[in-house]
Amino acid sequence: MTRQFLGLDVGGSSIKAGLVDLDAGRLLGDLISAPTPQPATPANMLPVFAGLADRFPGAQGRMGIAFPSVIQQGTVRTAANIDRSWIGADGPALVQRDLGRPAVFLNDADAAGVAEVKWGAGRGTNGTVIMVTFGTGIGTALFTDGKLFPNSELGHMEVRGVEAEKWTSAHVRTAQKLDWPAWIERVNVYLGQMYGLFWPDLFILGGAVSERFNEFAPLLHSPAQIRPAHFAGQAGVIGAALAAAGA
Ligand code: BGC
Repeated sequence: MTRQFLGLDVGGSSIKAGLVDLDAGRLLGDLISAPTPQPATPANMLPVFAGLADRFPGAQGRMGIAFPSVIQQGTVRTAANIDRSWIGADGPALVQRDLGRPAVFLNDADAAGVAEVKWGAGRGTNGTVIMVTFGTGIGTALFTDGKLFPNSELGHMEVRGVEAEKWTSAHVRTAQKLDWPAWIERVNVYLGQMYGLFWPDLFILGGAVSERFNEFAPLLHSPAQIRPAHFAGQAGVIGAALAAAGA
C-alpha cells in the first residue's frame, strides 16, 4: 500500500492539483488544473478546491495547499496576487468547514522548495539554498542545511528601485515581451542582489519557465551554482503533499 497525499498549488492564474506517492517521491499520474476564479476570494476559491479534490477520490485525509501568501500557523497574512479578503483567514478551518477534511497551508514557494530540497535539484546540498519561483509573482524559499526558513518573501525586495516581482517575474517577461537576454539581464541583477545578502551556495530556479532552462542558462551568471527545478511547475503540488504528510 503506497502512501498517497493530495497537494494543491494555488497560483495567480491557475490552481493545480495532484496525487503524490510519498514512497516513490513523485506524482502519481498527471496534474489537473482549474483557472483561478476572479476575484480570487475565499468564497470563489473554496468550491474550486472542492471540485479538484473530488477528482482524486483515492486520496482521503489531510491535504496540502501551497498558497501564494505568507502563512503563519495556517493563517493567511498577505495577498499580493489574490483577493485581499484572504488576509486574516484561517485556511485549514475554511477547508475543514467546506470540504470536511483537514488541510495544511504553506507558502507556495516554500512548498516548491521543500519538494526540490527533499527529492529534486537541491537534494543532498548542504549550506544555503534559495529557491526562486517565477510566475505571476516571484516566490522565494530559503534553506540552510536542508532546513526551511519560512515566508522569506524576497520577491518583494527592491531591485533598481522597483519591487523584484514587478520587474522580473515570468508574468512581466511575457507582458513586456522581453526576449531571453533582456529578461535574464534582470534575473542576473536580482540574483546578484540576493547573493550579496545571503551568500547562497545554490539557487534553484522554478516555475514553468524552468522547463526552458537550457535556452537561457548560458546567459545566467552568479558566483553561486544555479540549477533548474527538477519538478518545474509540479514542485508546489509535490511540496504541498509532503507538508500534508508531515514529511
Ligand atoms: C507573494 C508570495 C508568493 C509569490 C509567488 C508573491 O507575490 O507575496 O507569498 O510566494 O508571490 O506566488
